[in-house]
Amino acid sequence: VVEQWSSLPREVVDGVRLDDQKDEIPVESYVAQRYIENPYLIGGRKFDLRVYVLVMSYLPLKAWLYRDGFARFSNTRFTLNTIDDQYVHLTNVAVQKTAPDYDPEKGCKWMIQQFRLYLTAKHGAEAVEGLFAEMDNIFIKSLQSVQKVIISDKHCFELYGYDILIDQDLKPWLLEVNASPSLTASSPEDYELKTHLLEDTLNIVDLEGSQLGYNNDRKKQLKRLFKSIQTQQKV
Ligand SMILES: Nc1ncnc2c1ncn2[C@@H]1O[C@H](COP(=O)(O)OP(=O)(O)OP(=O)(O)O)[C@@H](O)[C@H]1O
Ligand SMILES: [Mg+2]
Repeated sequence: VVEQWSSLPREVVDGVRLDDQKDEIPVESYVAQRYIENPYLIGGRKFDLRVYVLVMSYLPLKAWLYRDGFARFSNTRFTLNTIDDQYVHLTNVAVQKTAPDYDPEKGCKWMIQQFRLYLTAKHGAEAVEGLFAEMDNIFIKSLQSVQKVIISDKHCFELYGYDILIDQDLKPWLLEVNASPSLTASSPEDYELKTHLLEDTLNIVDLEGSQLGYNNDRKKQLKRLFKSIQTQQKV
């Protein structure tokens, strides 16, 4: 974390190297992101949204948005007075649950439906629909931006976990896209969300290539997938 642009090394800012550095080890690539200082707060706490997108193919682009998702809250009330307190500025569950006053009964998640209802009660349906439409736009644009460069095989699919932050003007910001999102459950509700996510994914992937009237037996599919992965690992 740096507090000012001026403290970033020149090659990071400009992507160029000074003449006397030309022969040194290659420049590393960086992504610098501006810190969003005005996150939307609920109960004084910051949160971000975790949303799942399944990509079946990049060319042509075929993607599915999972209807469920959740908001992940930080443990401690938001303030800009300290910038290095991870319980104030981060929202990752893995980090928040290590807070000394973390309450596992309450957890730190809200299902996205609950979040949507809350926002609708506060700002009205139109504003919330606008926000969710802008989020759809983020999913589409982010996939389109890598559509031509990503290496994808027609036998593969990708399940992505998007991290989205909402600011106080109800504007969504894309923070990052995770290629292997955590499927660990932190509560019974979360367990349900993730098992349904896997089940829906398997339904769409349809490993057996089901036809009308076929029995789509997920357990059998998973066992077969597991066996084929084991054989591949042995080779
Ligand atoms: N630009 C930003 N503005 C405000 N908060 C941010 C910003 N970037 C990240 N955060 C906060 O920090 C948390 C962690 O950041 P991020 O999701 O980018 O990385 P990560 O999940 O820790 O790392 P990894 O790259 O290993 O998945 C986010 O969930 C969010 O709460
Ligand atoms: Mg993250």
